[in-house]
Amino acid sequence: MTTHTEMLELIRSRTPGYALPRPFYTDPEIFDVDMETIWYRDWLFAIPACEIPQSGNYVTMQVGAYAIVIVRGADGRIRAFHNACRHRGSRVCAARKGSAPKLVCPYHQWTYELDGRLLYARDMGPDFKAADHGLKAVACEEAGGVVYICLADEPAPFAPFAEQAARYLAPHRLNEAKVAFESTIVEKGNWKLVIENNRECYHCAGSHPELCRTYPDRPGFTSMDESGAMEPAVTAHWQKCEAAGMPSKFVIAPDHQWRFARIPLLGAGESYTMDGKAAVPNKRLANAPFADAGSLLSFHYPNTWNHFLADHSIVFRVLPISATETEVTTKWLVHKDAVEGVDYDVNNLSRVWVATNDEDRQVVEENQRGINSPAFVPGPYSEIQEDGVIQFVDWYLRTLEPRLTGKKSLREVA
Ligand code: FES
Ligand SMILES: [Fe+2]
Repeated sequence: MTTHTEMLELIRSRTPGYALPRPFYTDPEIFDVDMETIWYRDWLFAIPACEIPQSGNYVTMQVGAYAIVIVRGADGRIRAFHNACRHRGSRVCAARKGSAPKLVCPYHQWTYELDGRLLYARDMGPDFKAADHGLKAVACEEAGGVVYICLADEPAPFAPFAEQAARYLAPHRLNEAKVAFESTIVEKGNWKLVIENNRECYHCAGSHPELCRTYPDRPGFTSMDESGAMEPAVTAHWQKCEAAGMPSKFVIAPDHQWRFARIPLLGAGESYTMDGKAAVPNKRLANAPFADAGSLLSFHYPNTWNHFLADHSIVFRVLPISATETEVTTKWLVHKDAVEGVDYDVNNLSRVWVATNDEDRQVVEENQRGINSPAFVPGPYSEIQEDGVIQFVDWYLRTLEPRLTGKKSLREVA
C-alpha cells in the first residue's frame, strides 16, 4: 500500500513528456506492482498458433510467478492452463515445448486430458472426485493466427483487438506458417525500457546498420499517430496494398493499447535482409500479389511488437524477469511448405533481426546502467522522434493509475 501511495505521488509529480522517475525502472517493489496491475491483468501475446499445429502439441511460458502451459486439444482448440498439478502442485509440463496425447504429471502421474479435465489419479480412494481437480484454466484467445492469454479472473474484452487482428493478419496466412527460427535473449533492463526503445527509431541510425538498409527511420514512416502526419509514400503504399486486398491503414485502439499500420521498405525493399530482397522469394507466406508489400507493423502493450512482411513474418514477445531483467523471444515464421536450404537460408532470413535485437539489448542495458545512478533525472522526449514512447508511457500511466487507486480504468468501465 505504501508503494501504491508513493507511486501515485511519483506519477503526479512527473513532468508530462519526460521519462518516468527512476524507481519505475529500478525498484523491485514497483516491479511487483507492475506485475500485479498490468501483467497479471492485461492480455499478453503468447505464441503464434502455428507453433502447436497438432492435437497434443504444447508450449510452456512463465509470466512472473505464474507457470503456464498452452496446448492444442483433440478438438483443435487452443487452451491455456496454470501449469501446476492439482495434486501437490508440481509443474505438469517442464519442457519449453513438446507433444503428448495426455498431460501426465511427472511427480505421481496424475493424468489430464488436453482440455484440462483430470482423467486418472491412482489410489485416491472412493470419495475422490476427479471432476473437482482439473487443471485451472487461463483465459486464452486466438485471432488471425496469434494466441493471447490473460491471467485476470475477468479479462477485458478481447473482441475489439481480435476483429482487427483477424482482418489485418488474414493476408499474412499465419495459420499456414511454421517457425523457421527462434531466439530468446535476456536484456538487463526494465521491461518498460525494452518497450520504450522499440517505440522509437531516434536511435536507429546510430545503432542499426543492418536494419537501416531497409527500414525507414524517418518519423513520417514510423511514429504514426492519429494526427495522420504520414509521408505521402506511406499513404500511397496503403492505397496500393488495400487495392490488392491487404488492410494497411493505420488503426489504433481507443486506449492506444494496440495498433496496426503498414509501411513500405526503403528502395522498394522486399524484406529485412542485407540486400533487401525476399528471404523466401518463391514460397511467400503472405497472400500478396507483389513482393514489395512492405511491413505490417503492430504492437500490443505490454508485451509484443511484430513485423508481417510479404515473404515471412516476425513476432516478438517480451516477458519481465525482474526490475532490471527482461526476456525477449523472437520467432521467424515462413510458409510451412518452404524448405530450409532450398526455399530459404536461415541465416539470411534471421541475420538482420538477430543483429538488431543484440544492438537493442546493448542500448537498453546502457540505458538501465545510466538510470541506476542516483544522479539520473528524467529528460524530455522528442515530440518529433519519440511520440511512440510518449504514447506508450501515457498508456502505462493511464492504465496503472486507476488500478492503484482501485478506480476502474476507462477500458474496464466500457
Ligand atoms: S504433484 Fe502431480 S501427481 Fe502429484
Ligand atoms: Fe532498435
